[in-house]
Order: sequence, then structure tokens, then C-alpha cells
Amino acid sequence: MPRAPIHFILPVSPTLYKVFFCFTHILVVSTMGNCLTLPVSAAMNLFKNSSSLLAIDTMFKLPSPLPVWPKGEGFASGIMDLGGGLQVRQISDLVKVWATREGGPDNLGATFFEPSLMPDGFHMLGSYSQPNNKPFFGWVLAGKDDGSSEALKTPLDYTLVWSSESSKIKADGNGYVWLPIPPDGYKAVGHVVTTSPEKPLPDKIRCVRSDLTDQSEAYTWIWGPGKTSDANGFNVYSVRPSIRGTKTLGVPAGTFVAQIGGTASSLSIACLKNAESNFSCMPNLMQIETLMQAYSPWVYFHSKEEFLPSSVNWYFGMGALLYKKGEESNPVPIEPNGSNLPQGGSNDGAYWLDLPVDAGAKDIVRKGELRSSQVYVHVKPIMGASFTDIAVWIFYPFNGPARAQLGIVTISLGKIGEHVGDWEHVTLRVSNFNGELQRVYFSQHSGGTWVEAYDLEFQSGNKAVGYASLHGHALYAKAGVVLQGNGAIGIKNDTEKSKVVMDTGESFVIVAAEYLGSAVAEPAWLNYCRQWGPKISYDIAEEIKKVEKALLGPLKSAVKKFVNALPNEVLGEEGPTGPNMKDNWLGDEK
Ligand SMILES: *[C@@H]1O[C@H](CO)[C@@H](O)[C@H](O)[C@H]1NC(C)=O
Ligand SMILES: *[C@@H]1O[C@H](CO)[C@@H](O)[C@H](O)[C@H]1NC(C)=O
Ligand SMILES: *[C@@H]1O[C@H](CO)[C@@H](O)[C@H](O)[C@H]1NC(C)=O
Ligand SMILES: *[C@@H]1O[C@H](CO)[C@@H](O)[C@H](O)[C@H]1NC(C)=O
Repeated sequence: MPRAPIHFILPVSPTLYKVFFCFTHILVVSTMGNCLTLPVSAAMNLFKNSSSLLAIDTMFKLPSPLPVWPKGEGFASGIMDLGGGLQVRQISDLVKVWATREGGPDNLGATFFEPSLMPDGFHMLGSYSQPNNKPFFGWVLAGKDDGSSEALKTPLDYTLVWSSESSKIKADGNGYVWLPIPPDGYKAVGHVVTTSPEKPLPDKIRCVRSDLTDQSEAYTWIWGPGKTSDANGFNVYSVRPSIRGTKTLGVPAGTFVAQIGGTASSLSIACLKNAESNFSCMPNLMQIETLMQAYSPWVYFHSKEEFLPSSVNWYFGMGALLYKKGEESNPVPIEPNGSNLPQGGSNDGAYWLDLPVDAGAKDIVRKGELRSSQVYVHVKPIMGASFTDIAVWIFYPFNGPARAQLGIVTISLGKIGEHVGDWEHVTLRVSNFNGELQRVYFSQHSGGTWVEAYDLEFQSGNKAVGYASLHGHALYAKAGVVLQGNGAIGIKNDTEKSKVVMDTGESFVIVAAEYLGSAVAEPAWLNYCRQWGPKISYDIAEEIKKVEKALLGPLKSAVKKFVNALPNEVLGEEGPTGPNMKDNWLGDEK
């Protein structure tokens, strides 16, 4: 008879094993349900081996294969023409060169890679690095010169930026990080890493003609010998173009910068540039449809959510009103297709929208209508058209009041935080080399967060899941309670995987894709540039008084202090403007 099993879970990622000890053999049950009986020594080996597994030892792959893309021009063709005689390919077949075992994010070290197999005629432009606390998910661009214009040249020499020789960090032997010295008129777009002190051969890498490069900035911290970056020490950062938007031309090469100093110093590593503004790698309409079928996000609402999304046309058709300054007593019903909304101009306060006046109708409209709701898709080039951003906009007729959490008590903040007309969005960033989803942006009022593909929750294939917070509709990649504030009191953002969910792929409308010219007809409401709700005329002091009434002594002053310190975006008495007035319409997400 086996003894009662001792049952424990090894702290390994991502495959957990449950281990049942018996006599001379150990039964190992993986999370996939596979059982295997191993002699004790072998099982202990597995134990040892797996406990040293780091996140980076696993390669991240989207849960489902990518779709077959409809025919088009350059989208998902694997290659991009940057002009000036330079073509680039995205290489994900990388081989490990060197790794540190400590320092950097979570003090787990970082790994340095270079392309393993170079396609015919292509050359390495730099190596890739990432922290060990994340699954392997990387690429670098490799370049090919058409031979006519010397877009690429070998470096004159290398400078040693840093080596691990003098440091005591745990690492796989010694590592040496080299900066190529480019010929006149050329720039380095990446480093070479070696495990010996000898300089790499000049032929190892290529520098890029300056007119095919753009200014770069340090982005995320990849590694440094310490547990946090040291502004005076050695640091490795990922690199991105300094200027980013739908019309800017900087193309990240996927490389890193290694330097002594913090992010403020100017970088020795440049980005690439889509020198002739060639947007032929952007998806066409059919390809956008396929992208949405592949990646359209799911949005979960809280089970207590009273203020759900609606389509814009439903909102108009249900009696939303257009107000004009000076004629407040005479609002005009909005045509269901928005055709009588003022077009263009600026957010000058001359017009605004509001709910119907009739109390019954107001109540109905405020609640939205999920069943008939639609999301609105804006497709735009980013990173010099090496990526496509698909911004998926969600409209809510009403943003409910904020709620505060005080210890274990949730307090409704009366009217504070309420506004009419709420626009939130999720942005999918897709590589134009292969159509792979790279990362997703979740808007949270005036800001938001990027979440890398490996940190997303997926449902039905490669569709990311987002959670809209109760009343405020801020979007998060994980369900749970998010508190804003310090200590015991904070604004509460409850999210929940309830049964109330929107499949944005079911009902999306492509409302803008400027790079396609007139192929996409922009609805009239998109070019309405004023606010989607009125300036709400509640008195914050009055609202605080109401909240205080419901509370006992010491809580009162705590709440008062807290509410007074809330940022404007929460107090936000003004209804927001529509999607095309937001910074991300032309710029990168914040
Ligand atoms: C553990 O690693 C050792 C050496 O790297 C290897 O020989 C052994 O087969 C591995 N054991 C298992 C169970 O994977
Ligand atoms: C634009 O790029 C595509 C491939 O990415 C290439 O075939 C085409 O020649 C380029 N157009 C121009 C004007 O350079
Ligand atoms: C919008 O609807 C009105 C009728 O309500 C119609 O006359 C007009 O042609 C429509 N406009 C568009 C652009 O569909
Ligand atoms: C929670 O929601 C408020 C407004 O409802 C927002 O301003 C705040 O940024 C959110 N908190 C976090 C941690 O994102």
C-alpha cells in the first residue's frame, strides 16, 4: 500500500508538477494531467532541473496559429522596404549568446541573443536582449543592401562598452558587450555580445547609412548589475524611436542599447527609418477584417454594472440632444446617423451633447444597450508603419459615480466622477512583418497601460480579454479590485469576470484608416469635435457633505481629505471629447 501521499507543488513556471512520494518511486503528475512514475533519483533530477527553470526558458507563442492572411501588398510578407536600397526582415529565430543570472528586473538576470540563421543576403544589425523574468518573446531586424547604394557597411572597429570580468555577478561565464564604430555617414543600430575578450570580426554586423536611421530613446530597463537601474552604472535598455506617431517614420530594430548611465543620456544606438514613407506594409481592408476576426478583444463588465455601452446610433436615436451655447433652452434631437452634428472646428465649448431631458428616457439611455452596441475601429500605422495599431473604441452613454474604499467599507461618492458620454479604448499592436499580435493597450481614463502578449489572458484563440471597471469603465487586463490612493483609502476600480461580456468581434465598424484614402467612409459623429457630455454643475463641497452625513466622526475628515486630493480626471465634471480629439489619434499611446 502506498503511504498517504505527501503532496506539494514545485515553484516552477510555467509547468507545475504535483509530486506524490511513495517508496522508491515517485509519481509525477503534470498540470496537463499526465502521470509518470520515476525512480527517486530521476525525479529528484527533474526537481533540480525544473527548479532552475526561468520564465525565459519558455518561448511564448500565441495560443492559436495565425490565420491565413488575405492577399495584399506588403502586409505579413515578412519583408519591408525602407527605401534608399535597404530591406529588412524580422528575425525571431534567435540563439542565446550569453546570460547573467542576477541583476535586472526581479534580480533574475537577462539573456543576450543573436539571429541563428540569416536569410540569404541579409546581415545582422544588432543583437537582442530581454530580462529572464519574462518568457522568451523577441525579434530583431536584419538588413539587406540592394547593392546599388551602400545602405549598409561593416564597422571600422568596435569599442568594448562593458564586460562582466570585473563584476561579481552570477553569469554563464564572462560576457563582453561591443559597440560598432561606424564609418562616416553611418550609424550603429545594435551591439554585438561575445563570450571572449577578442573583438568580433568586422563582418559580424552592419552599420546603416545615416539617412536610413532615426533618433532613438531608451524605453524599458532590461538589465544592470543591481536590482534597480543605477543612473551612474552600466545599464541595458530596449530602444524605440524618440518621436512616435501615425505619421512619424522611426522603425525600432528590436535591438538594445548598453551604456554607462541612465535613460537621460543620448544613445549610441539609432533606430531605423522608413525613409520614403512607404506604407505598403499596412493591411488592406480584407486584412483588417481578418485581423479583427483573429484578435478582437472580449470585454467583461462587472455584474453590478448599471451603465453599459451602446452604439452611437442607438444613443442618438434614443433621444440624445445637441446643445448650442447661448441657446441652452432649445436643444436639438440628433439624427440617428449623426448627420446634423457640427463638423470639424475645435473643442471650444460652442456645442455639447446630453442625455434626453425626460427623466424616464434619461434613465433608459444612461444604462446603454449591450445587445445592439457596436465598437468603432481606427486602424493606423505606428513605428514607421512596421506595426499596425488597431484602436477599438467603446462608447458608454454614461460614466457612473466613483466609489471609494475605506478599510473594508465601500463608499459611493455621490455624483463625484459622473459624466455623460464616456469613450474608452483597447489598442491591438500587430507586427506588419507577420501579422502577429505583439501587445495590447488598455485605456484607463486619460492614461492607460501596455500589456505584452505573454501577459494577456486569451479566450477563443488569440482574442485578448479586458475587464471594464464598475462605473468608471477603465480597462484592465486582469480581474480584481484596483485601488488608487495610498494606505487604507482609495478609489475603487472593481472588475469581475461576470456573465456580462462583449465580443467586440461581433459588431465592429471600421470608422477610420486614413492611410487607405477614401476606402473607409468616416461617420459624421467622428468629425464632431466638441464634448459628448455637458459640464456637470454639481458642487463638490456639497457632494462631500452628503457623503460625510453617512459616515461617523473620524471617517469624515479622512474622506474629505481624500476627495480633495483626487485628480481632475476623477472629479472630471466635463464630458469627454470623441476619439479623434484624443492624443492617440495621431500619437503613440501614453
Ligand atoms: C536534468 O539535467 C541533466 C543534466 O543537464 C540531464 O542529464 C537529465 O537528463 C535531466 N533530467 C531530466 C529528468 O530532465
Ligand atoms: C514599398 O515597399 C514595397 C515592399 O515593402 C516595395 O515592393 C515597393 O517597391 C516600395 N515602394 C516604393 C515607392 O519604394
Ligand atoms: C442620415 O439620415 C437622414 C435621415 O434621418 C438622411 O436624410 C441622410 O441622408 C442620412 N445621411 C447619411 C450620411 O446617411
Ligand atoms: C481607478 O479609477 C479611477 C477613476 O474611476 C482612475 O482615475 C484611476 O486611475 C483608476 N485606478 C488605477 C489604479 O488605475
